[in-house]
Amino acid sequence: MGQVLGIESSCDETGVAVYQPDRGLLAHALYSQVALHAEYGGVVPELASRDHVRKLLPLLRQTLADGGLTVSDLAAVAYTAGPGLIGALLVGASVARSLAWALEIPAIAVHHMEGHLLAPLLEAPAPGTEPLAPPFVALLVSGGHSMLVGVETIGRYAILGDTLDDAAGEAFDKTAKLMGLPYPGGPALAKVAETGDPKAFHFSRPMTDRPGLDLSFSGLKTQVLLAWRDSDHAESTRANIARGFEEAIVETLAVKCRRALAATGYRRLVVSGGVGANKRLRAQLAAAGRHEGFATYFPRLAFCTDNGAMIALAGSLRLAAGQTTGAEIRVLPRWDLQSLPGLGTRDSGLEKALPA
Ligand code: KG4
Ligand code: ZN
Repeated sequence: MGQVLGIESSCDETGVAVYQPDRGLLAHALYSQVALHAEYGGVVPELASRDHVRKLLPLLRQTLADGGLTVSDLAAVAYTAGPGLIGALLVGASVARSLAWALEIPAIAVHHMEGHLLAPLLEAPAPGTEPLAPPFVALLVSGGHSMLVGVETIGRYAILGDTLDDAAGEAFDKTAKLMGLPYPGGPALAKVAETGDPKAFHFSRPMTDRPGLDLSFSGLKTQVLLAWRDSDHAESTRANIARGFEEAIVETLAVKCRRALAATGYRRLVVSGGVGANKRLRAQLAAAGRHEGFATYFPRLAFCTDNGAMIALAGSLRLAAGQTTGAEIRVLPRWDLQSLPGLGTRDSGLEKALPA
C-alpha cells in the first residue's frame, strides 16, 4: 500500500502528515492557531478558516521536504470532512480534493473522531502489551466531544455514552476562563492544578450516582464558579480549586470507563482526544488497568490533540477498504460517528450522510 497524505483543518490546528501502512508515519507537521485566538478567549471560526488558507500549503510543502518525500509518491489524499467548523473544514477539503484531482489519485473523507479513536495505532504497543485490536472501548474526550465508544470491528462504532451538555475539554476551557487562566484552558488549568491540594475542595462526580454511561459537566463548572466567587482569589486557592476540579473530571471519566468495560466485557481501553493529554487522567486509567486487568492504549501527547497523522492513518484504512470519495468537495459540520460503514463495504459513509 502506498503513501497517504493526511490533512486536518477542522478547528484551530492545521495538521499535515504522510502515513504508509507497512512503514508507519513518514512525516508530520502541525501549525497551531492558539496565539491567534488567545486574545478572544476561544476559537473565532472566520479567523480559523483564513489562517488555514494561509498556512496549509506552506505546511504541506515543509512536511514533504522534511520527510524527503514528493507529491508524486502519494497514493491518496485523506482529509477531515467533519465534524468541525464548516469554513475550516472546507479549506482542508478543497486543498485535498484539488491535489488528488491534479495527481489523479483518490481522495478520502475522514471522520475526525475516527481519527482520534485510531490514533493509538500510530504508536508501538507498550512493553508487555498486545497490539491494539478490537474489541475495545474508546474514551474520546476533546474540546467538542466526550463519548464512550464500543468498537467491535474497526470502522463500525457504537456510542455507549455521550455528554448531555459540555464536552470534557469545553468544561476545562470554561472553568479555566472563569478563574482568569489563559486560553486554551485545559493545559493551563492542569498546570496550575499540579501545585494544588486535592483535599481542599471537593466537587461532585456528575452522574456517577446512577446507572448509565452518559456524562454531564456543566454543573461542575457552576460549582467551580461559586467556589471561586466566594474565595479569597489567592494563587494557592486557585491551584486548590483547579486540582479539585481536575480530580472530579478524572474520577468521573474513570468510573464511566470501568462501567463501559464491564457492560461490554471488553478488556481494552483507548483514551484519546485533547483531554487524553491530561497526565492525571492517563496515570489514573493506566493504574486502574494494571489493578483490574484491562490494557490501556494512549496516543503520544502530541497526537491526543488534533493532528494530521491520525487522519492519514484513518484514511489509509478506508483506502484499503476501497472507500474513496467522489469529485465534489463536501464537508459535514455535523456527522454521526455511528453512520460510518464497516471496512467491508465500498461505501465511504460521506455520500450517505449528505442530502442528495
Ligand atoms: O482534540 P482537540 O485538540 O480538539 C478538538 O477536537 O476539540 O482537543 C482540544 C481540547 C481543549 O478543550 C483543551 O483544553 C483540551 O483538549 N486539553 C486538555 C489538555 N490538553 C488539551 N484538557 C485537560 N488537560 C490537558 N492536559
Ligand atoms: Zn479533535
